[in-house]
Amino acid sequence: MADEKEVARKRLRVLRDELAFHGHRYYVLDQPVIADVEYDRLFRELLALEEKFPELVTDDSPSQRVGGAPLEKFAGVQHRHAMLSLENAFSDAELRDFEDRLLRFLKDTPQLSYVAEPKMDGLAVELVYENGLFVQGSTRGDGRTGEDITRNLKTIAAIPLRLQGESPPVLLEVRGEVFMGSAGFKKMNEERAAAGESLFANPRNAAAGSLRQLDSRLTARRPLDFYAYGISDPAQVACPTQHELLAQLMDFGLKVNPLVRLCPKMDEVIAHYRHLLEIRARLDYEIDGMVVKVNSLALQERLGNKARTPRWAVACKFPAFQATTRLLAVDFQVGRTGVVTPVAILEPVAIGGVTVSRATLHNEEEIKRKDLRIGDRVLVQRAGDVIPEIVQPIIDLRTGGEEPVAMPGHCPSCGHTLVREEGEAALRCINGHCPAQRLRSLIHFTGKTGMDIEGLGKKVMEQLFAEKLVNDIPDIYALRPETLERLDGWASKSAENAVAAIAASQNASLARLLSALGIRHVGEVTAAQLEERFQTMENLMAASLEELLTVEGIGEQVAASIRDYFGDPAVQKMLERLRQLGVAPGKRVAPLGELPLRGAVLLFTGSLSSFSRDEAKGVVKKLGGQVSSSLSRKVTHLVCGDKPGSKLQKAEELGITIIDEKGFQQLIS
Ligand code: IVH
Repeated sequence: MADEKEVARKRLRVLRDELAFHGHRYYVLDQPVIADVEYDRLFRELLALEEKFPELVTDDSPSQRVGGAPLEKFAGVQHRHAMLSLENAFSDAELRDFEDRLLRFLKDTPQLSYVAEPKMDGLAVELVYENGLFVQGSTRGDGRTGEDITRNLKTIAAIPLRLQGESPPVLLEVRGEVFMGSAGFKKMNEERAAAGESLFANPRNAAAGSLRQLDSRLTARRPLDFYAYGISDPAQVACPTQHELLAQLMDFGLKVNPLVRLCPKMDEVIAHYRHLLEIRARLDYEIDGMVVKVNSLALQERLGNKARTPRWAVACKFPAFQATTRLLAVDFQVGRTGVVTPVAILEPVAIGGVTVSRATLHNEEEIKRKDLRIGDRVLVQRAGDVIPEIVQPIIDLRTGGEEPVAMPGHCPSCGHTLVREEGEAALRCINGHCPAQRLRSLIHFTGKTGMDIEGLGKKVMEQLFAEKLVNDIPDIYALRPETLERLDGWASKSAENAVAAIAASQNASLARLLSALGIRHVGEVTAAQLEERFQTMENLMAASLEELLTVEGIGEQVAASIRDYFGDPAVQKMLERLRQLGVAPGKRVAPLGELPLRGAVLLFTGSLSSFSRDEAKGVVKKLGGQVSSSLSRKVTHLVCGDKPGSKLQKAEELGITIIDEKGFQQLIS
């Protein structure tokens, strides 16, 4: 036994190192070198060994990332060095003033260089590392005292549990921002909507809510991310400048925003501000400005701090995406699950270059909470990709003629009486044949979280539904190019492409089909779990309630919803028709693990020495990846050969992972 334990101890050390290495490649560098299944295999081996020898579990074991039993409350944490906030600059002139102040203060310094960093719109946290081990993490709180959220922070894969490198500092207090990427936010809200849960208004709120969960297992399920931007005291590492400090943090395995720029002059700072403002809407996360810091840490020290803000840094806020306009009316939209959502109809107003004429109102409670009335002047805001929302009415501008919002008693589409289910904020139309619900379900089916059929977006589905060509899901697979071609706005080419895209979706995975069907409480994550467990539609349809309940993450409510769905004779008939029309999920060509580039989109620039372009593309496709011919945010890797073109700089700006030929060879090996 003692021997066995020694063997386990050694093996666990190897596994922890391996998992930390691959976690860093995946979550920090976005350059995985093994397939997900291989990672999972290592992880399972670790869990099994730790279960056998619980005394061998260490604080830096990746098993600690899944979260633990809920806390009663968070403990207070005294920050060794106060977490300051920043002064704001709202114009180029104010930035020049900032520089003038610095030069006056320093007297003998003729020229300053700066680091300009995106200002992440998330939550400030401090991570304490002792001899390389992550021992404590906290929120900013009032700047002096924050809350101990160590367990929650451990669930964030981008935060290393142990610093990389041979000789970590005795003490390192990393400062940075926890945030939620826009894609993760959107997906999470879609999942919540599917599960009938309340939605988060924006990624920042979602990140804040997730971090302040007392149950870290819930935090672990949220797509949180982290960027480091500094440390509490420059004396903790020997770096002369902020720019080198950030490079050092990267060497420690921490994630640093690739859009950080070293600016030798204030002119470059201003240029970078313009650049960030320009690419802001295309980033996969929200930034609310740019932070400018004096590069020299010695000068930072000389400049020192005021009461709550440092003299050596300033925040250049972006103009808020807000405007005022009038609430003209409230419309009621019926979603695919029958939920009736109020939508504000606004006098059109330009906000950050986009004309806004509608805003979401979520539900009746929201209208009541904000005390909105028809005719009100309202403050509207738009954040990144998020749907515009009304912040508040401007009560002082009321004339007395404003009308309260009346909720409908009947479905605006089919006239059926609306019901409010126990404990739900939403009104719901429960007519299974409601045309609005049917159209919404069809739009969901072909849309991004469904079968993702190119050419069958919302507008097209509305057209096909109005023309009575598609009444239910199987009708999609019966569409012929000749029929589509005759419709307004179609040509033979677009018709053929659409039908080809429909045909291509016939072999989509079971998970995709399940998510597309829009079964209540079954979003993409649950769908993937169902596929993993049941493999085929037949198995799933035959699964009992008890069997469903054994699937990870599926509780009573979800299991019951799945049983209800498949128990419905109309659903059974629909699925049978789909089968006859050739929709056959689960016939995967190769198991996941054999396609290491699944999900990767590569773009090549410059010439490679050991492959022709065509050969390289062929290899990528064979390994399950895609090759793109132009730069977009879909691209996951730019492969940069000899004499790269302008794509390189653009890719850097978009924060896309850039690899050289050697990196490419590793990727495909
Ligand atoms: S430096 C003393 N750098 O902005 C230096 N802050 O008011 C203070 N923030 O809540 C922070 N991105 O969390 C710094 N690149 C960045 C930042 C950043 C976002 C947040 C920070 C704090 C607020 C400062």
